[in-house]
Amino acid sequence: MSNTSISLTRFLIEEQRADRINPDLRLLVEVVARACKTISIAVGKGALGGVLGDVGSGSDASINVQGEAQKKLDVLSNEILMEANAWGGHLAGLASEEMDTSHPIPDKYPRGNYLLLFDPLDGSSNIDVNVSVGTIFSVLRCPDGVTNPVDADFLQPGTAQVAAGYCIYGPSTTLVLTVGHGTHCFTLDREVGSFVLTARGMRIPEETREFAVNMSNQRHWEPPMQAYVGDLLLGSEGPRGKDFNMRWVASMVADVHRILTRGGIFSYPLDRKSADKGGRLRLMYEANPMSLLVEQAGGAASTGHQRLLEVQPTGLHMRVPVFLGSKTEVEAAVGYHAKAG
Ligand code: F6P
Repeated sequence: MSNTSISLTRFLIEEQRADRINPDLRLLVEVVARACKTISIAVGKGALGGVLGDVGSGSDASINVQGEAQKKLDVLSNEILMEANAWGGHLAGLASEEMDTSHPIPDKYPRGNYLLLFDPLDGSSNIDVNVSVGTIFSVLRCPDGVTNPVDADFLQPGTAQVAAGYCIYGPSTTLVLTVGHGTHCFTLDREVGSFVLTARGMRIPEETREFAVNMSNQRHWEPPMQAYVGDLLLGSEGPRGKDFNMRWVASMVADVHRILTRGGIFSYPLDRKSADKGGRLRLMYEANPMSLLVEQAGGAASTGHQRLLEVQPTGLHMRVPVFLGSKTEVEAAVGYHAKAG
């Protein structure tokens, strides 16, 4: 039977029958996917939906916990995910890039045993220019005996994730998911309204000739990163002995999706601009879910010094340096950091 006839619902039911996912987690993933469909519709309307631009302006501008101006679609996506998941019955609490602290599930709804973290609309600087953006999510177990989770209950390393994924709103809307047994890709059939399996068991090629980094930060990088990218740029005339290509969408979802599809290395290293914060990208709802998806597809993910999934979070919005993608290339980048000590 061809992949095109397997809906997300059917895929998840089959995973449940194979004992790879329990019914609560299956339904939780379905709720997240349903919310992503709603966000996809809002993103797809663009200017016609009246949702482009920032919330407020000038001194009335709305700034989120990250110190970034909130886009109307950031806020809308956050509301859609909050509302869909709060009543679902499978969660004990939620945390989002857009909210300072975690939220327990309101008393009026049943509570479950999972914690959900999400970046409702990653790459939101791309919204107004019609470039791909996406939702990233991570699912953890609520610690035993906790019914009213607080931030500390979310502070689990990435290895504790029971599911992770992203939905990219691009030329097509695509959901990429892992429940810990491979990374699978589903494309939204807009006519039918359901996600359809389009790539089972994605594999990232081990070797690559493509890197993704914001080169404008070069002068702010630490010496090992300078040395690593310097050698990539020397191409076939340098120690790497091959020419590299560069791509940077500035939406992590889009850059990671390209890497899951055809290989490459994505990096947002430590630089002088973000050193006091620990990096640019957020561990719990950006780096961790992406790292699990990448590892489950045969790739690797590191801070440059440590496997990303083993970083112990110290805060919901903790930031980390990120290197992820084709295994050999991530190992090469880590090698430059190890050499520097
Ligand atoms: O959430 C952070 C993010 O928007 C990522 O999606 C993206 O990879 C990065 O920031 C872009 O950073 P910059 O604006 O420095 O290119």
